[in-house]
Amino acid sequence: MRFRTVLAGICALFPVVLFPGFSASAKTPVTARHGMVVAQEPIAADVGLAVLKHGGNAVDAAVAVGFALAVTHPAAGNIGGGGFLLVRLANGKSYFVDFREAAPGKASRNMYIGPDGKPTKDSLFGWRASGVPGSVKGFAEAHEKWGTKKWAELLAPAVNLARNGFTVDKTLAGEIAGSTANLENDPESKRIFLRDGKPYKAGETFRQPELADTLGRIAANGARDFYEGETARKLAAAMAAHGGLITEADLKNYRAIDRKPLEGGYHGYEIITAPPPSAGGLGILQMLGILNGTGFESDGPNSVKAVHYTTEAMRRFYADRSEYLGDPTYYDVPVQQLLSPRYLAERRDSIDPARATPAAGIQPGRILSAAAHVNQRESSETTHFNIVDAQGNAVAVTYTLNNSFGSGVTVPGLGFLLNDEMDDFAAKPGSPNMFGLIGADANAIQPGKRPLSSMNPTIVTRGGKLFMAVGAPGGSRITTGVLQVILDAIDFHMNPQDAVDLPRFHDQWKPDILYLQKGFNPDVEAALVKMGYNIQPINDVARVEAIIARNGLLEGGTESRHNGKVVGY
Ligand code: DON
Repeated sequence: MRFRTVLAGICALFPVVLFPGFSASAKTPVTARHGMVVAQEPIAADVGLAVLKHGGNAVDAAVAVGFALAVTHPAAGNIGGGGFLLVRLANGKSYFVDFREAAPGKASRNMYIGPDGKPTKDSLFGWRASGVPGSVKGFAEAHEKWGTKKWAELLAPAVNLARNGFTVDKTLAGEIAGSTANLENDPESKRIFLRDGKPYKAGETFRQPELADTLGRIAANGARDFYEGETARKLAAAMAAHGGLITEADLKNYRAIDRKPLEGGYHGYEIITAPPPSAGGLGILQMLGILNGTGFESDGPNSVKAVHYTTEAMRRFYADRSEYLGDPTYYDVPVQQLLSPRYLAERRDSIDPARATPAAGIQPGRILSAAAHVNQRESSETTHFNIVDAQGNAVAVTYTLNNSFGSGVTVPGLGFLLNDEMDDFAAKPGSPNMFGLIGADANAIQPGKRPLSSMNPTIVTRGGKLFMAVGAPGGSRITTGVLQVILDAIDFHMNPQDAVDLPRFHDQWKPDILYLQKGFNPDVEAALVKMGYNIQPINDVARVEAIIARNGLLEGGTESRHNGKVVGY
């Protein structure tokens, strides 16, 4: 025990020497004493910092950042989508707000199966792709429970940014250019997000007057405007006119759901994470549980041993995900069985220390009682932010439109894009969705049901004290990406910047491919091939952001590969 503690201290000081698979990031983490915001778009991060500096708490700042991102990061920030907010208050209590989109009342199990029996593209593009949006309700609920500043004050920066505009940076210009085909299919999206039919260029000013009006009404009248007021009426009328499914009744009935976060222990830390309809939180706890006791960490991060055991844990989780996970209101998700020590031991024991278990050799586990090609392009389709305030409250939010710029549809006169979250359901048992994920009954479409998600905002504590807030966008790779950053922090003692910048890997059982990000040691790769892994390169494995609290300081990291920003004071 004592030796382990001493070793941990040495590793923290000299990780490069002890762990050959690790090289420190060129960047050092940003540090701050009082409060910190880490977000994937710099203007929104600054909005959050201003709220903290003016005495707002982490929830106030989260509301302001959430609405600001709906203006400055339209590919993912949104009021037409949904997500999850995890908060751990300084008093040690944790809460989870599920504001995931819900299937409209007119949705049906086979609604995306074409006459040829194959899934259509309607779950991804156009008016029929959207679930009932939850973001406005989610932020309103969090604000009502834990906020301290006036709602309208928190929305004011977003309204101003939409009304007066902001300067398009290279990232936004690239995102719009990459999604031109999606955006030009819809006349309103084309008019707003393209300038005379061409993508905005970096340096140009982007104003969104219709969105400013919508946000202004939400600021003045609260979430009611979106779900029962002018916004609701216009949205439902546009849906009816274009063959969409969402009605005024769907909007009026939409609820953000308070759920109990999933919690588990790992190597002396407490992990607080997302419950179903997130598959991700259960995945994190299951994979940690399988890894625990394997000694996977002994050769350091990204060593053959670490990659092998972690990949095998990933494969087993994704097999279970395909069978057992869905919206718990509609399907009895066997959370306890899937996390029971006995079950985890069985899954762990099925790992061959020397060989890859092929995907075909892994099935969803037998519990008591009760390939698609992975889309290699990963852009900015979801977004995550972490906030810690001076009192020690921590918030982690992941929210999304699903695809980049969602369904590509902007509601005329309202200025915001709609989600294509219906694609996260299993449109047909065994047929892969956009992320290559398969599912069956547990995640079949039903009116009111919420599609299964990979998003997993997570907070880690130690001895009852905040240690880490972490999360990411990245589709099916969110869960594996966040897992690795947690392991890097806990087992390999990395600071958050090194942890998020370290190359990552991803395996989701089917297809039978282990994806490696650039930067792996070629000898490690060769050894993994020898063990039976089918390896392919990949650009991104999620885009992880983290804050770590230790020794009275906050340290923040956002990937050097991308455009996020860490700010603190
Ligand atoms: O909820 C989910 O799992 C997906 N809709 C997330 C999509 C996503 O992360 C796209 N990202 N880059």
